[in-house]
Order: sequence, then structure tokens, then C-alpha cells
Amino acid sequence: MGTEGMDEGSNMKVILKHYVSGSAQETDMHLTAATIKLKAPPDSNAVVVKNLFISCDPDMIFKMTGHKREHFDPYTLGSPITGYGVAKVLDSAHPDFATDDLVWGITGWEEYSLISDTKNLFKIQHTDVPLSYYAGILGMPGLTAYVGVYELCVPKKGDYVFISAACGAIGLLMGQFAKFHGCHVVGSVGGPDKVELLKKKFGYDEAFNYKQEPDYDATLKRYCPEGIDVCYDNVGGKMLDAVLLNLRPHARIMICGMSSQYHLEHPDGVRNLPWMVMKDAQMQGYLAVNYYHLYPKYLELILPLIKESKVVYVEDIADGLETAPKALVGVFSGRNIGKQVVAVNCL
Ligand SMILES: NC(=O)c1ccc[n+]([C@@H]2O[C@H](COP(=O)([O-])OP(=O)(O)OC[C@H]3O[C@@H](n4cnc5c(N)ncnc54)[C@H](OP(=O)(O)O)[C@@H]3O)[C@@H](O)[C@H]2O)c1
Repeated sequence: MGTEGMDEGSNMKVILKHYVSGSAQETDMHLTAATIKLKAPPDSNAVVVKNLFISCDPDMIFKMTGHKREHFDPYTLGSPITGYGVAKVLDSAHPDFATDDLVWGITGWEEYSLISDTKNLFKIQHTDVPLSYYAGILGMPGLTAYVGVYELCVPKKGDYVFISAACGAIGLLMGQFAKFHGCHVVGSVGGPDKVELLKKKFGYDEAFNYKQEPDYDATLKRYCPEGIDVCYDNVGGKMLDAVLLNLRPHARIMICGMSSQYHLEHPDGVRNLPWMVMKDAQMQGYLAVNYYHLYPKYLELILPLIKESKVVYVEDIADGLETAPKALVGVFSGRNIGKQVVAVNCL
């Protein structure tokens, strides 16, 4: 239904019913109907948007647990879940945004949102690419892969690189970026179809299904017989511990994420840190939001690569807000292939 000229509209939204302990289920969330004022309050600096795509991100589980952690305030029960998304501005009380602007940033899991915190809301300038890409390769996940591989831990030609959760939004880009640097790249993923994709589509040299490997140390010795110069780690836990046993001298480990740990009340310990000393190695974590100033530089690199089909990008697009809980739970269990997005309202 068109909303032009309307002051108020009906608004379906996804809310969290209760805080989650352990793994999240679809039934922890539900879809509910509400109404929303479609005009931004004057002098509010806020914008009202129509949500087009929302992004399912693994770290959303933090906000579902109800425990307060830095950067991850718990969701408010009864209010829509929030996360990254792509949207169109319907009304603006902010001088930098106008009606019909396309934006990406933090929005609500609902049809329409009032966005009051516009600090990290980016105006979309390039529309000759699919808009959903701004939830992935052209949004926060793409920037995260870029910062890891091009800014903080640049691999050298010939380096042996290992990447975990390699078929996800960030991993599939990290692997291709490492190949652009002339590296030998190995990835771990949670299924045979993903192994095939890594090798046939994303240019990985080797890949394995960690779900079929009882001993990660032996597996890494098999797939990375020379050892590992650079690891971009997206899962943490036992895989990170096994990586430590397989480092080459002066190795570097970039901690991007810990998907195997987020749902655990007591995260796994890391036992093999002495190998950091023996191998003169470095380990560093980073948070993409602290590198948003590099976004224009990243766009300069990635837009031509997309337009010239030099980078392969795969999206897993669920259709309709009502599919969002299932899609999100799928990311926690590895059902997604590539970037998991939900199409809310297509233009
Ligand atoms: N540093 C930052 O600023 C930043 C920003 C955004 C995201 N991140 C982190 O980066 C990582 C990748 O994010 P993404 O958006 O690209 O997600 P994603 O890889 O698209 O989806 C998460 C994947 O993690 C894997 N996974 C789930 N549970 C696992 C487990 N117990 N053990 C091992 N793998 C598991 C699944 O793939 P499989 O089928 O392979 O198991 C799943 O598809 C996440 O840890 C995320 O939190 C960091």
C-alpha cells in the first residue's frame, strides 16, 4: 500500500518475546502488527524510513541474551529487533537526509522505522548495483573484510592464509581479497556444498568441512602442511586453538569474530597460547565500526571490482519480514550460504 501523504501507517514488526539462554529459536521472536507515525518529529534530527532489506548478523545473539556487553545493549522486549538494513527515507527532520534518499545503517526489523540515531546512517550514492548489497558487500560486512585484509593485517604474496566461516558474508570476501594479494588460501566451513563453492566459485585453494573433522589440529596439518602465516578467524573456540598449533614463524591472527562462542554462557578457553611465543606471532582483534572513516576508500576499491565481475558475491535472500526469525536462526546454525538478507519491502 502506498504511504505518500499519510501521517500514520500500519507497521508489521518482529519483536523478541523473551531473552534467550543458549541457542536462539524462531519461537523466541514473533511478528506483530502496530502503527507508526510516518512524519519525523520537527527538530528531532530523526528520519522515517521504509525498510527494504534487513541483515541477519551472527552477533545479534548477544543482544538476544539480555546481558549488557559493550557495543551490545540487550534488545528491549516488545520493541522491534534492530540491526543493519537498507531503507528509503520517507520523511526527514535531519539536514543531511531528504525524502527518497536511500540509506544503509542500523534500523528496525519492521516495515517502517523512526531512526533517531543517524550517526552511522550512510546515504547510498551508487544505485547501479543491487540495493541489497548495502546489507553485505557494500555495507558493514564488506567493510569488515576490507579492514581485516587491506588495512590491519595485509598478507604478503605467497603467504599461507587460513579463514574460518569462509562461506559467510565476511569470509567469502576475505578469501578473495587474500587471493588478490597472491596468497594460498584455505577455508573451513560447515558443509560439503560450501566446500565446493569455496573451491569452484570463490577461488579458495583448499577447503574442508569442519563438521566432519574430529581433530582440527590434524585437519589443519593436512590442509595447511606448510603451516599458517595469516589467519582471519571468524569462529574462535577449538578452531582457533588448533590454528595456534599450526602457526609459521611471525604468523599473524586477526580475530574478526567468534561465531562458535556467542551462544555459550561459559566460552571455551584457549589453551595453546604458548605457541604465540614460540612462533613470535601476533594476535589482534578489531571492530569495524571503529573504521567507518575508511568506507569511502573501501567503496573506491570494491565498486569497480563488482562492476567488472572481478569479485564473486553470493546472497541468501529470504522473502518477507515474516521469514526473518527463521533466517536469523539459520545464520546461528550455518544454514545461510553467503550473506543472509531478508527482503522486507521491495521498491
Ligand atoms: N570485527 C567486526 O567488526 C565484525 C563485524 C561483523 C561481523 N563480525 C563477525 O565476523 C564473523 C562472520 O560474520 P558474517 O556476517 O560473515 O557471518 P556469516 O559467516 O555469514 O554467518 C555465520 C556463519 O558462522 C558459522 N557458524 C555458526 N555457528 C558456528 C559454530 N558453532 N562453529 C563454527 N562456525 C559456526 C556458520 O557457517 P558454517 O556453515 O561454516 O558453520 C554461519 O553461516 C562473525 O563471528 C561475526 O560476529 C565481526
